[in-house]
Amino acid sequence: MQQEGTAMSEVIDSALHENRVFEPPAGEAGRIPSLDAYHVLRKRFNDDFDGTWRDLAREHLEWREPFTRVLNREHAPFFRWFEDGKLNLSENCLDRHVRAGFGERTAIIWEGETGVVRKYSYSALLADVCRAANAMRELGVAAGDRVVIYMPMIPEAAIAMLACTRIGAVHSVVFGAFSPQALRDRVEDAGARLVITADGGWRRGGIHAMKPNVDLALAEGCHRVGHVLVVAHAGNDVERTAGRDIDWQQALNMQPAECAPLAVEAEQPLFILYTSGSTGKPKGILHSTAGYLLWSRLTMQWSFDFKPERDVFWCTADVGWITGHTYSVYGPLCCGGTTVMYEGVPTWPDPGRLWKICADHGVTVFYTAPTAIRALIKAGDQWPEQHDLSALRILGTVGEPINPEAWMWYHRVIGKERCPIVDTWWQTETGGHMIAPLPFATPTKPGSATLPLPGIDAAVVDGDGKPVSEGGGLLVIRQPWPSMLRGIWGDEQRYLDTYWKKFSNRYYFAGDGARIDKDGYCWIMGRVDDVLNVSGHRLGTMEIESALASHPAVAEAAVVGRPDDIKGEAICAFVVLKSVDEDGLAELLRKHVAREIGAIAKPDDIRIANSLPKTRSGKIMRRLLRDIAAGREITQDISTLEDQSVIAQLQGR
Ligand code: WT7
Repeated sequence: MQQEGTAMSEVIDSALHENRVFEPPAGEAGRIPSLDAYHVLRKRFNDDFDGTWRDLAREHLEWREPFTRVLNREHAPFFRWFEDGKLNLSENCLDRHVRAGFGERTAIIWEGETGVVRKYSYSALLADVCRAANAMRELGVAAGDRVVIYMPMIPEAAIAMLACTRIGAVHSVVFGAFSPQALRDRVEDAGARLVITADGGWRRGGIHAMKPNVDLALAEGCHRVGHVLVVAHAGNDVERTAGRDIDWQQALNMQPAECAPLAVEAEQPLFILYTSGSTGKPKGILHSTAGYLLWSRLTMQWSFDFKPERDVFWCTADVGWITGHTYSVYGPLCCGGTTVMYEGVPTWPDPGRLWKICADHGVTVFYTAPTAIRALIKAGDQWPEQHDLSALRILGTVGEPINPEAWMWYHRVIGKERCPIVDTWWQTETGGHMIAPLPFATPTKPGSATLPLPGIDAAVVDGDGKPVSEGGGLLVIRQPWPSMLRGIWGDEQRYLDTYWKKFSNRYYFAGDGARIDKDGYCWIMGRVDDVLNVSGHRLGTMEIESALASHPAVAEAAVVGRPDDIKGEAICAFVVLKSVDEDGLAELLRKHVAREIGAIAKPDDIRIANSLPKTRSGKIMRRLLRDIAAGREITQDISTLEDQSVIAQLQGR
């Protein structure tokens, strides 16, 4: 499905003309060793869907009480997986490996932007998780309570997450660059009783304070928050509210290094993660325990061929996003392997930083976003060439369609043509990978996420839900899967409306357009709703529009994406003012949006006009705005526009 006028058009153009096929490098075999083995496993799911999931869940997770029921479809599309089983997530990620004799194995390698390195063995990580869990309990946090984590990319963020799971608390990680307002919205919506934060974090050689944002967020509302745990990390001065704020390290020091893991039901809520939709406020995507953990582990093994005794895994995503949850923390730890965490920007102090980290820590599987790849291509090949990348085995990408040019560079310059490129399509809602090649088994095509993983019934369908065998359509998932979202926190109806209504509760609708080629390979074309993908981050146009409209000078605003070489999509805002334009207002408005939402939502362009182009029924003509934003020729009929001069104004002519 060719989405007219979106930023994806260029990517799609090159992807549509892409017909190179790369056979898996010879001499190696992954966990699923061949394309034949993949088809065998798919067939096993086809023949016995529940039984195959049952076997995998028994084999891969440690249960406190075994489940007897695999999948409860009675209240579809609310599904329950392994519902009568009990387990503890942190026990599956920590105690299990320590008991098996791997307590001394490195669980986390953390590198700070200044170059400082800290490592945690599985035993040390377990001890700190227990201390943190005990400390949280002492602060009154019980199973089911919500805890907001607002932290930089430091090991304590992972420790806080795992500590929540130890006692059955539900975490909600809020990305550390979100504004106090965005933080407050999430704390309130989740009804959190504890916030865990840090004094500040490091970025581009400087400190960005975080604790003051928490103070601002909690200054109004948030009545349920009793305490704030503060990690002293960056060393910046912070204010302390007596009785509310507690130093993390002091709290941990007072606790024993043992804490019995609480056995929870398989469907115990695990975390809430907020993500943008096409309308309204960000929605709290809810994930539950067993199914999510199972798929985190299986996809580590299948998509990344991850083996704990061999691999050092580095996913560059922040824990504030789903990628950081599943592939920086839970996936690698559930497999008993080593995960790398880096706090800082990829280009500090120079554009070789990521490659230096790969070389220094012997990274074998590297996972990042196309936007980072494009930025590093621009910096030049001399940077990767300075570092020894020979330990790399597999290269992953996620977050947005990768243009074939970036794919080829990744393949040639980073992977030296010997590392399979694993382009993984998935979403916050899916919990883990859905469509991805199996390394050393699936032939790859630059720009295609290739085939659905075993057990995943992904399809491209037309508007009536009829499968498309070759061509474009909408991406759907036709069977439930264990790590699927369990709902939207506090809003059942929105869950039904957003994902299920379109295909009458039968199929999960992902919100993406996709094309299927003659080999059944899937090519993701991007969102078909009003969601932007800026540097692999999801932002709702409505969200940015309402941030703009909340400024006293603004009468009306419309936001669209336009193609951007590095970011994939850039944000272009068309604004109608209440009063006359003043000098510098556009810059003020950009800052206003950053304050309201966060720096990632800051519009790249602001264009001020007397009015916005609308249809007779009063709908903003977004397709037209997208053409204008992209500087494309206007092909639409605009004869019905009352004020034709507006077009020239919007074009900035
Ligand atoms: C949206 C989900 C899941 C991790 C990061 C983003 C786009 C994601 C790919 C890919 C093309 C992709 C889709 C999807 N997307 N991965 N490999 N190829 N597009 O998570 O913020 O929930 O966004 O990201 O449009 O719907 P998210």
